Amino acid sequence: MKGKISASIMCADFRNLEREVKLLEKLGIDYLHFDIMDGHFVPNFTMGPDILIAIREITDMPFDIHLMIEKPENFIDLFELKKGDLVSVHQESTYHLQRVLQKIKDKGAGTAVALNPATPVEMIKYVLSDIDMILIMTVNPGFAGQKLVPATLDKIQEVKQLINLNKLSIEIEVDGNVSFENAKKMRLCGADIFVAGTSSLFNRSIGLEVASEKLKNAISFNI
Ligand code: DX5
Ligand code: ZN
Repeated sequence: MKGKISASIMCADFRNLEREVKLLEKLGIDYLHFDIMDGHFVPNFTMGPDILIAIREITDMPFDIHLMIEKPENFIDLFELKKGDLVSVHQESTYHLQRVLQKIKDKGAGTAVALNPATPVEMIKYVLSDIDMILIMTVNPGFAGQKLVPATLDKIQEVKQLINLNKLSIEIEVDGNVSFENAKKMRLCGADIFVAGTSSLFNRSIGLEVASEKLKNAISFNI
C-alpha cells in the first residue's frame, strides 16, 4: 500500500480555512489532522470541537483527531465521530488507556495511541488488539516547526517489526517535521500515514499544489 497524507490543519491558513480544506480535498489528501491541545498536556492551545463541527459541513474527508489533552476520556463525548475517522490518545495522558480506546471504538471511529519521543513501545503491548494505528511523535508535541528527534526513526522501525512479527493490521502514523527528505526516510522505516505541516504541505514558499505533489513523490513507494 502507498503512503497516505494527513494534512495538519493547525498549519493551514485560518483566515481562509474553507478554501484550504476544499483544495486539500481536490488534491486527494487522505485525512485532515486536527491537533487538539489543552494547555496542560502540552504547553499550547489550538482548536476545539466546534471547528471540527464547522469543517464537517464543507467536506467528506475523514478526520484524524490527535488529542494532546490530559484525561482524554473526559472529553471524547464533545466530538462527533464518523466511521472512517481516527482518534489518537497519548499513552502518557491517561491512567485508563484501554478504557478510553474502548470508548472511541464504541462511538464508531478508528483508534490510535500516540507515543511521545521518550515513551518506549513496550507501554502499549497490552492494547495492540484495541488499536488501528500507532502515532509516533517525531517531535515533542505542542508546536509546529520543530526539528526531528532522530531516535524516533529507530522507533518507527521497531514498531514496524513488531507489527510484522505479530501479523497485526495496525498502521503507523508519523507526526512532526515530516519534511520531504524526512518523509522518505520515515517511509523506508515503515511509516504509512504522514502528518504534513509547515515542513512540507504548508511550506508557504511553494504553495499547496506543488508541495502536495512533492510529498506524494517522496512517499509513494511500496514497503
Ligand atoms: C505537533 C504538531 C506538529 C504539526 C506538524 O504537536 O502535530 O507536528 O502538526 O507540523 P510541522 O511540519 O511544522 O512539524
Ligand atoms: Zn498532531
